[in-house]
Amino acid sequence: MNFPKAITLFLLPVFFLQTHAIIFNIQNNCPYTLWPAAVPGGGRRLDPGQTWTIGFPNGPKLAKIWARTNCTFDASGRGSCLTGDCNGQLRCESYGSAPHTVAEYGLNSFGHKDYYDISVLEGFNVPMEFRPTTNGCTRPIRCSADITGECPNELKTPGGCHNPCTVYKTTQYCCHSGPCRPTNLSRFFKLRCRDVFTYPEDDPTSTFTCPPGTSYRVVFCP
Ligand SMILES: *[C@@H]1O[C@H](CO)[C@@H](O)[C@H](O)[C@H]1NC(C)=O
Ligand SMILES: *[C@@H]1O[C@H](CO)[C@@H](O)[C@H](O)[C@H]1NC(C)=O
Repeated sequence: MNFPKAITLFLLPVFFLQTHAIIFNIQNNCPYTLWPAAVPGGGRRLDPGQTWTIGFPNGPKLAKIWARTNCTFDASGRGSCLTGDCNGQLRCESYGSAPHTVAEYGLNSFGHKDYYDISVLEGFNVPMEFRPTTNGCTRPIRCSADITGECPNELKTPGGCHNPCTVYKTTQYCCHSGPCRPTNLSRFFKLRCRDVFTYPEDDPTSTFTCPPGTSYRVVFCP
């Protein structure tokens, strides 16, 4: 009778290791409280100095991680945030609203690589670093300039700085059709954060790769 139980206890740690093969460590180095969100993964309150760890079995196909600011939630997890809000939920199930700086992770099963980037295609709210931590993969991406403070007047919004596509919704800024080029407004972001995704066809300078199964760290206010 006790034998199967012993087996279960023995296998349990192995099971947990295997089901948390890929780790995202999310760290709040800002001097203020954030409510980071991850889809998939949910969301929570994270006070200055705290870390939130999310584990995935094999890596999601696509994941987005961002910070929400100036939130209030009730005991049931309903509320709202000034930036990055996801339908008023504490535990996000949908992507956030602009402006928000977004760490993006993609698993390309055909190319056998992880893809990772920081995007300001939906604007900027909190400075961020996104870096691989395992597999010998070391290239950090960082956007820590004072984008909100230096934001051009036409892109200013409470709590952050909009991407021009959000404000103007034109083909020039959003690349709805055909090839497109950087604009003087996308260059505002690129000059301050050269490794980040600033307009829809910014791939060559802004997408980085790691072997599949790599773990990552996201640091707010690096
Ligand atoms: C948002 O929160 C920050 C940090 O707590 C605070 O300094 C700022 O005034 C708040 N902004 C608004 C619009 O409430
Ligand atoms: C972008 O260009 C427009 C038109 O030439 C100009 O009015 C605006 O000030 C420029 N903005 C920035 C941030 O350079």
